[in-house]
Amino acid sequence: MLLLSATSLLLAAVSAPLASASAPGNGPVKKGLDFHAKQAGLKYFGAATDSPGQRERAGYEAAYSQYDAIMWKSGEFGQTTPTNGQKWLFSEPQQGVFNYTEGEIIASKAQKAGLYLRCHALVWHSQLAPWVESTTWTPATLRAAIIAHIEGVAKHWKGRCYAWDVVNEALNEDGTYRDSVFYKVLGEEYIKLAFKTAARVDPHAKLYYNDYNLESPGAKADGAKGIVKMLRKAGIKVDGVGLQAHLIAESHPTLDEHIAAIKGFASLGVEVALTELDIRLQTPATAANLALQKTAYKNVVGACVQVKGCVGVTIWDFYDPFSWVPYVFSGQGAALLWNEDFSTHPAYVGVVEALTNKTRGRGKRGRRGASLILN
Ligand code: XIL
Repeated sequence: MLLLSATSLLLAAVSAPLASASAPGNGPVKKGLDFHAKQAGLKYFGAATDSPGQRERAGYEAAYSQYDAIMWKSGEFGQTTPTNGQKWLFSEPQQGVFNYTEGEIIASKAQKAGLYLRCHALVWHSQLAPWVESTTWTPATLRAAIIAHIEGVAKHWKGRCYAWDVVNEALNEDGTYRDSVFYKVLGEEYIKLAFKTAARVDPHAKLYYNDYNLESPGAKADGAKGIVKMLRKAGIKVDGVGLQAHLIAESHPTLDEHIAAIKGFASLGVEVALTELDIRLQTPATAANLALQKTAYKNVVGACVQVKGCVGVTIWDFYDPFSWVPYVFSGQGAALLWNEDFSTHPAYVGVVEALTNKTRGRGKRGRRGASLILN
């Protein structure tokens, strides 16, 4: 579901272009973000992307060829996630009627380009098909609907997803469970059921719990740890925690806070990934807030590099005009690394610095070559 309005379109229109750094732009780059990430010991640096029909912003068709060149051919990205196409709304719009078209557009491009695919998201309260919320469920019928949904969707992409976000955003800010249709009917059992079913259907995919505001220690991060422990205790496979990392330039966490949060999850023996990274700022962008954004990107990516167990970073699209931010957070934008004119934000350099271990000379994960790469 696109969240568009005339006001938000206007806001987006005034948010760019911005001050730029280099323009890795059109062709393959020798040492893109994914190259640096792999040198630093991560599995990937990726960008989520949408099927053109679902993109946040229409009227940008003229930019597609340059956009596609960066997304699929530049070497900047070694991974992608379909931002919308695999969600319940698209994949099972009516009960028992499955549609893989939108998700498949991105999945097949990823395969062709040799990119890791993170799959997103099986059970989530938002962007649900309307029938899920309008049906009067009993525990038995909702259980069956969850199982059927995961059997359909996860089976379709079986063997192609590096990871699945099995359950997305199940928690409130205080670490208690969100009162979703799933929770109302089944309590925390729905989380167990979702992971159990996903493990049966696609045993090789890494199964993640994914949420926002897990990037610093606190009640919500504790809640997410509770989910991992609850699944473990029940003998159910859980492999990772996804930190969405929708952050704010003007009030970003410190490097140490990020490190502590990531370590908190890694110490449970699950892997961690930054799954939807973007760092929004109050538009218009200025030298000052772009500098804050650069530090914020450097901190969070640097923390991932420095904590063993953090496997990769995904930015939530890479091109500002296709970011969800201006449509949801009024007056904010410029959250990604590429400006409207395809030049890059100062934060691009911040990410490269983080990946090449210039964040700070501490806590190195002792990974191959990380400190030797200087550009
Ligand atoms: C967003 C998409 O980017 C938008 O296009 C859509 O309209 C709403 O959802 N957390 C998630 C993502 O897990 O799926 C959301 O993506 C952003 C917040």
